[in-house]
Amino acid sequence: MLPKKLLLLLQLLAQLLVAGGVDFAYEGFAGGGTRQLSLDGMATIMPDGLLLLTNDTNMSKAHAFHPDLVTLRPALPTAPGTTAVPTATMSSFSTTFVFAIASDLVGLSTSGFAFLVVPGNARDALASAMPAQYLGLFNTSSNGDPRNHVFAVELDTVRNPEFGDMDDNHVGLDINSLNSSVAATAGYYDDDAGVFRNLSLASREPLQVWVDYDGATTEIAVAMAPAGSPRPKRPLLSTRIDLSTVIAADTAYVGFSSGSSIVLCRHYVLGWSFSTGGAAAPPLDHAQLPKLPRVAGPPKPPRSRATLAIALPIMTTTAVLAAVAVGVLVHRRRLRYAELREDWEEEFGPHRFAFKDLHDATGGFKDKRLLGAGGFGSVYMGALPGSRTQVAVKRVSHESRQGVKEFIAEVVSIGRLRHRNLVQLLGYCRRKGELLLVYDYMPNGSLDKYLHGDGDGGSKPATLGWAQRLRIIKGVASGLLYMHEDWEKVVVHRDIKASNVLLDAEMNGRLGDFGLARLYDHGADPHTTRVVGTMGYLAPELMRTGKATTLSDVFAFGAFLLEVACGRRPIEEGDEEDVYGDVERFVLADWVLGHWRNGAIAGAVDAELRAAGVYDAAEADLVLRLGLTCMHPSPAARPSMRQVMQYLDGSTPLPELPPTYVTFNMLAAMETHQGVLRSLSIWRAASSVATISDIGVDSGR
Ligand SMILES: Nc1ncnc2c1ncn2[C@@H]1O[C@H](COP(=O)(O)OP(=O)(O)OP(=O)(O)O)[C@@H](O)[C@H]1O
Ligand SMILES: *[C@@H]1O[C@H](CO)[C@@H](O)[C@H](O)[C@H]1NC(C)=O
Ligand SMILES: *[C@@H]1O[C@H](CO)[C@@H](O)[C@H](O)[C@H]1NC(C)=O
Ligand SMILES: *[C@@H]1O[C@H](CO)[C@@H](O)[C@H](O)[C@H]1NC(C)=O
Ligand SMILES: *[C@@H]1O[C@H](CO)[C@@H](O)[C@H](O)[C@H]1NC(C)=O
Ligand SMILES: *[C@@H]1O[C@H](CO)[C@@H](O)[C@H](O)[C@H]1NC(C)=O
Repeated sequence: MLPKKLLLLLQLLAQLLVAGGVDFAYEGFAGGGTRQLSLDGMATIMPDGLLLLTNDTNMSKAHAFHPDLVTLRPALPTAPGTTAVPTATMSSFSTTFVFAIASDLVGLSTSGFAFLVVPGNARDALASAMPAQYLGLFNTSSNGDPRNHVFAVELDTVRNPEFGDMDDNHVGLDINSLNSSVAATAGYYDDDAGVFRNLSLASREPLQVWVDYDGATTEIAVAMAPAGSPRPKRPLLSTRIDLSTVIAADTAYVGFSSGSSIVLCRHYVLGWSFSTGGAAAPPLDHAQLPKLPRVAGPPKPPRSRATLAIALPIMTTTAVLAAVAVGVLVHRRRLRYAELREDWEEEFGPHRFAFKDLHDATGGFKDKRLLGAGGFGSVYMGALPGSRTQVAVKRVSHESRQGVKEFIAEVVSIGRLRHRNLVQLLGYCRRKGELLLVYDYMPNGSLDKYLHGDGDGGSKPATLGWAQRLRIIKGVASGLLYMHEDWEKVVVHRDIKASNVLLDAEMNGRLGDFGLARLYDHGADPHTTRVVGTMGYLAPELMRTGKATTLSDVFAFGAFLLEVACGRRPIEEGDEEDVYGDVERFVLADWVLGHWRNGAIAGAVDAELRAAGVYDAAEADLVLRLGLTCMHPSPAARPSMRQVMQYLDGSTPLPELPPTYVTFNMLAAMETHQGVLRSLSIWRAASSVATISDIGVDSGR
């Protein structure tokens, strides 16, 4: 221990003498020989020395800097009596750090963070930087501005098309801008085989990064590897950028910046060292680094019989050992099946399942039983012991604390909803950080697979005929009408879309996932409007008010009608970008409107149905016009679900579309609020959860 510190000190002294370099090495940040970092935002140092950049606060940011300015342009020795002149070129520097990104919501993307260099006079601007994809570095107006004087290495876990991000797991060099100058998928080149091995930034595993800048050649190189592995010889990224013009100061702060998003995830830095003047950053002793806290992950698969067979003979050797081993096994077993139960749950009695039963029912949540994963978690198939009823078990991660009681009360109350077009919720089970919801199993899966294929390159099931589509549409409409008007209280679905419509054995459409959106809706901060739903199905007023109503459900139902009739998603993003950097978007509603204006709305019907020539033109016309009617930008102009049912069964004729539709443009209506959305990067058709914070959502302009 001591010799190592001494060695470091000697290295440091030597460098000071040779090159005037600044060195520091943090193996943990708890103090004890190292300087305290200068922190702001939600950054904290945990008692064991971990630097936690993002705690559980959503949409906020954090910075952590070495407390002293580092000298990047050392003064040349000058004649005695005269003042020192800084050198023109920036000196070399080298840094390495070990970090980990841990998210506890499976399946939802997290946010990234960055290492940065910023001169003292530019550091204050970080106060007006934005969180989430802005990484706490810039804001909408400052992104790309050379006055930022920021050099950063981003470790980004979200693909933001507005910054030209390559993927959702990349390392990039950022010069005054989140549009990286150079970027690469996170990973490293194997020293022996030379092959590229990717690394997942958000894997919860500690990873080490090395960043080196050569002042003479202006070469920047970044390498990364799993923590504890040697530095790969071939860097992940290398390029030449003259940082002296970027930083444009003699001294600068170095540190980390991070911004949290709606999905809570934690950015940890375990250790960090830095040097200037050409020497490599002091190596980090991995044994000295603080340990990452355990994150509740999926339960371990049950121990196999083989292990027991070996363990048993050994246990017989001494009675004491056996007792201990049994004790351990019992304890493990108890942990494995551990649940959370509180007094208030008594009242929900029969809806409560034992975790062990669900565990057994799904064969220990085997991958083989995985039906799919969505925004809220993974869904497994199972058969309940005893009854052998087939069920679908959805595992939803949640941040414990607030809202769970209300949510469960609601789940249970919604569980009493019974309708042939709703997926029956049978009950729930609660564990630490996790909620398991048990539903009736729907053997034919979700409707979107029939419309669009499963998206994984898998085969698309047979196209649904028109009659089947219409039956599904009518079914979903009656399920929704029941929720809105016929049950004892009004239930708003909030996330109607083809992937939430499941098909039972008779190919009836059934709405699933009702109420789940609520889990993301508790805790009303007046400054934060949380919109839960999926892009393309979100009513324009919802983006402004955040308040889901039966009429915002009707809007989503309208989008769903078009989706089913046309076999296309409400919004499809192209790969091309236009001159404004916007991704080309196909907006189904506008496309159907175009056909309607040309007097040929039937041209919008799914090409596969048109090719086969087997669809009822009058019915298709009705469904398409009804879809557009439901998507009226003004909620008051939309029909109720009761009226929708009447139009669908023909008992009331559907009025002509309002004349305003001649000039109406759905994309424009959505884009009125899209600036806000884009600034928060939630313009992603696939995402289920969106947040609009107070940035820009004020008067509904
Ligand atoms: N009750 C069920 N019976 C059979 N399969 C189901 C059931 N519920 C869900 N699934 C399957 O699991 C997959 C994932 O469902 P989930 O509801 O989590 O995701 P999603 O609807 O695609 O997305 P989101 O969470 O955004 O609504 C679905 O595509 C479906 O195939
Ligand atoms: C996160 O950090 C901020 C600033 O230190 C603090 O005010 C807040 O309470 C913290 N939140 C949690 C959940 O720890
Ligand atoms: C963006 O940041 C700059 C500082 O870099 C600040 O002057 C400006 O006011 C900020 N803009 C917004 C909209 O917050
Ligand atoms: C690496 O990439 C491959 C193919 O893209 C993927 O299957 C694999 O899961 C990735 N591994 C990690 C650790 O991200
Ligand atoms: C996000 O922040 C708001 C307050 O800003 C809070 O009410 C809400 O519960 C938070 N959501 C999550 C998922 O932590
Ligand atoms: C970042 O990239 C996007 C997409 O390529 C582009 O639209 C935008 O103008 C760029 N911004 C800056 C500041 O370079």
